[in-house]
Amino acid sequence: MDLLLKDKVVLITGASRGIGYAAALGFAKEGANLAIASRKLPDLEKAAAEIKALKRKCLPVATHVGKIEDIQNLVQKVMEEYGRIDILVNNAATNPSMASAMDIDDRAWDAIMNLNLKGLFFLSQAVAKIMKEKGGGKIINIASIAGITPDILPVYSISKAGVIMATKVMAQQWAPFKIRVNTVAPGLTKTKFSQPLWGNPDILNIAMSRTPLGRPAEPEEMVGAILFLASDASSYITGQVIPVDGGVTI
Ligand SMILES: NC(=O)c1ccc[n+]([C@@H]2O[C@H](COP(=O)([O-])OP(=O)(O)OC[C@H]3O[C@@H](n4cnc5c(N)ncnc54)[C@H](OP(=O)(O)O)[C@@H]3O)[C@@H](O)[C@H]2O)c1
Repeated sequence: MDLLLKDKVVLITGASRGIGYAAALGFAKEGANLAIASRKLPDLEKAAAEIKALKRKCLPVATHVGKIEDIQNLVQKVMEEYGRIDILVNNAATNPSMASAMDIDDRAWDAIMNLNLKGLFFLSQAVAKIMKEKGGGKIINIASIAGITPDILPVYSISKAGVIMATKVMAQQWAPFKIRVNTVAPGLTKTKFSQPLWGNPDILNIAMSRTPLGRPAEPEEMVGAILFLASDASSYITGQVIPVDGGVTI
């Protein structure tokens, strides 16, 4: 199926590694041009070189998505380069603490909520204003199955539940502007972010006992759902959550 993503402008946060990077490569292979954002420019430049090797354009912009001034700078740089944004993938997220709900402190709460929820919302808002002006667009938020069923990361789970509701609110309010907004909710995926989980045999065993497919995902296994939601193959789908979780949420 031709996903008709050729020459689309795609902005992906947290695209220097993991799921965001896999998604960036997936879009590039479909012929899209990329803007990628995360905090560390050298990592972004390395990722951008891989994308350019596929003969696609790629603009790396050092950005802390939890900072409003960085979000404004990011959107401005992408507009200077491409003049539009067709697809936004809100993928960057953090979880700086493994503390329980009884012990986690407000600094961890702020770090998680600023990036995972506030940054996601206000970047979406800035990009949606452009999409509205240009006649439409697609926003794909990366939540987590932890936002559907709580797990061992309490505030992270709350933030991801917020991402799912933010998706529904944005989808409802921006549908008149031909902006579709959907969420992909990954299960345990082998990236740096989740290394403390899949790298710990006890935690991995518990997680796999709840996973019908019996293994964690590779980052590339998230890409199909993201491309589907970014394409017209999903033209009548908005405000929805697609778990890509090996069956955990069954
Ligand atoms: N891996 C899993 O098991 C799993 C499961 C469910 C959901 N998810 C979700 O999948 C998404 C991607 O995670 P991942 O597993 O691919 O993680 P990852 O491999 O650790 O990549 C995280 C990316 O986000 C960037 N980032 C971190 N903090 C940032 C900030 N403040 N501003 C901008 N960029 C920032 C990182 O680059 P810098 O450090 O240079 O900023 C990196 O590019 C996240 O939303 C995560 O919650 C992951």
